[in-house]
Amino acid sequence: VLDITKLYAQAGVFTFDPGFTSTASCESSITFIAGGKGELLYRGYPIDQLAEKSSYLEVCYLLLNGELPTTAQLEEFTHTVTNHTMLHDQMNNLFRGFRRDAHPMAIMCGVVGALSAFYHDSADITDEKQREIASIRMIAKIPTIAAYAFKYSVGQPFVYPDNNLDYASNFLRMCFAVPAEDYVVNPILSKAMDRIFTLHADHEQNASTSTVRLAGSSGANPFACIAAGIACLWGPAHGGANEACLNMLREIGTVDRIPEYIARAKDKSDPFRLMGFGHRVYKNFDPRATVMKESADEVLDLLGIEDNETLKVAKALEKIALEDPYFVEKKLYPNVDFYSGIILDAMGFPTSMFTPIFALSRTVGWIAQWKEMIGDPKLKIGRPRQLYTGATNRDYVDMAER
Ligand code: ACO
Repeated sequence: VLDITKLYAQAGVFTFDPGFTSTASCESSITFIAGGKGELLYRGYPIDQLAEKSSYLEVCYLLLNGELPTTAQLEEFTHTVTNHTMLHDQMNNLFRGFRRDAHPMAIMCGVVGALSAFYHDSADITDEKQREIASIRMIAKIPTIAAYAFKYSVGQPFVYPDNNLDYASNFLRMCFAVPAEDYVVNPILSKAMDRIFTLHADHEQNASTSTVRLAGSSGANPFACIAAGIACLWGPAHGGANEACLNMLREIGTVDRIPEYIARAKDKSDPFRLMGFGHRVYKNFDPRATVMKESADEVLDLLGIEDNETLKVAKALEKIALEDPYFVEKKLYPNVDFYSGIILDAMGFPTSMFTPIFALSRTVGWIAQWKEMIGDPKLKIGRPRQLYTGATNRDYVDMAER
């Protein structure tokens, strides 16, 4: 009989760390999180300062290049990104191949993966210049892809990018403009959108970023790697939480039903979790949630949204959870998704678009992490170990004897 323990001993020492809670998979100089202090730094700069003073494209430049851009550098970067926002006309046919009721994340996985069928040059990841071009293409085209996925789902014609607009305004216009009607982007909404992009731009080795790195470690082309990241982000424990959170608030429906849901969240025999609460790394508060809460107040004020029923539920839930000993003791605070969902809902996005917007924002983080990994001379293909718990060596049993 095979002695598995002995075999493992011969294979050398390795750790068993489900969920990678204490294993670093790489070295990175992009993003730093001090979960206990509720601190998030992009290339050393605190997220609240960037959200207040910077723009998303400036943050993209910072994440990709390591330093804040000068005026000339930002102008050139913005110009280059803006010039790559269009999709190849043939890509429109790809969208038309999907069912109208397909989830936009499903469409995004497919269309982003298909970029590799259009840009063969980017497949040469050994060429630094090609890696650069692939990065720009991804950042420039992802808002167009997300907006087209939305337009397709509501049966409206695609709105082409407008190169005179900034990144966030252009996205809002591509989503909400309809033919024969003027669409003027409100600067407060555009600023709030830009902040949502900035706050989600990178978050070190979360599940989707680790997926991008693992896929990329085999030398796969960047578009395929980002498509893998989008697929991973879709899950309700990760990027899908903002959608799940708003759906949950609507399901709760009225403030008087909150205690029932709080009780379910505490009941260990019930798999239900309060969506939009808790975080793997932030065990104090999520600094992105603080900024997002401010933005939510601004947007609701601007749109004159008095407490509608969903908002009333959200505010009451936030208060109860912050005071309830179970949530306090387990350090379960509202996370960034709790507030981003409220803003996006107020802007008019259906819940199905929440995760695509997260994917759009995170694309720069994925690309920056992918570039960092590919440029690392110590790069090794990712190959986690396992702790085998199956049957030991046994003889094949003929069909007649089973
Ligand atoms: N509601 C109720 N209880 C919770 C919640 C929640 N949202 N989150 C964690 N807990 C409880 C767990 O049951 C567990 O209790 P126990 O110690 O009695 O067993 C304890 O808190 C610790 O939870 P873990 O699952 O070990 O924490 P982990 O760090 O693995 O999970 C996660 C983090 C996945 C984010 C979790 O808090 C969760 O499921 N939250 C809801 C989904 C969500 O909002 N996700 C968005 C994350 S942010 C992002 O992706 C941008």
